[in-house]
Amino acid sequence: MPRYTKTAMLLHWLIALLIVAAFALGLVMTDIPGLTPTKLKYFSWHKWLGCTVLALAAIRLLWRLLHRAPPYPPQLPQWQKSSSHALHGLLYLLMFGVPLSGYFYSLAAGIPVVYLGVLPLPVLIGPDPVLKPLLKTAHYWLNMALLACVCLHVAAALKHLLIDRDGIFSRMLPSTD
Ligand code: HEM
Repeated sequence: MPRYTKTAMLLHWLIALLIVAAFALGLVMTDIPGLTPTKLKYFSWHKWLGCTVLALAAIRLLWRLLHRAPPYPPQLPQWQKSSSHALHGLLYLLMFGVPLSGYFYSLAAGIPVVYLGVLPLPVLIGPDPVLKPLLKTAHYWLNMALLACVCLHVAAALKHLLIDRDGIFSRMLPSTD
């Protein structure tokens, strides 16, 4: 069974880890009442994690455009090939949409992002009281869409691993032989 390249695997698992961390931190930090130093620190960490996801997603998209994914086994039903392509496409869109909505929300709220506390990132829009609530809602709902897509993606992967046992899951794992 052909596998993804090492670069594709590294980007896949690194981005997956960072998305889970950014998502969890997003929920925790917005739950903290008031404006405490801890809350502000978590907001910064969340933004840095999210900007890292955005940068890695750009590298990953470029890599994917320049390299073909390994072909599916011929016995895989056509509907599964089509739905996996559609879901992967949606995941790519959300890997950009989620961090970009957060980034522009932060700018619309008048808080430019300083990556890791040292690198000021481009201020592409100024404070905007009209856009601010729209972008906040967009960030929330894009995250819920991402959660739904990731759940489907994981469920499909586990079905291939535990029920179909067709080797599709291990295409994204380093070879043990
Ligand atoms: C993969 C990347 C990201 C994920 C998975 C993510 C996830 C989340 C989640 C789950 C929340 C909580 C939503 C809620 O309960 O209201 C949140 C809130 C927030 N995110 Fe992100 N986020 C990402 C990237 C970013 C980026 C790049 C920025 C800014 C540079 C950002 C800025 C914010 C802000 C400011 C909030 C607080 C919203 C509020 O005021 O309630 N996020 N994020």
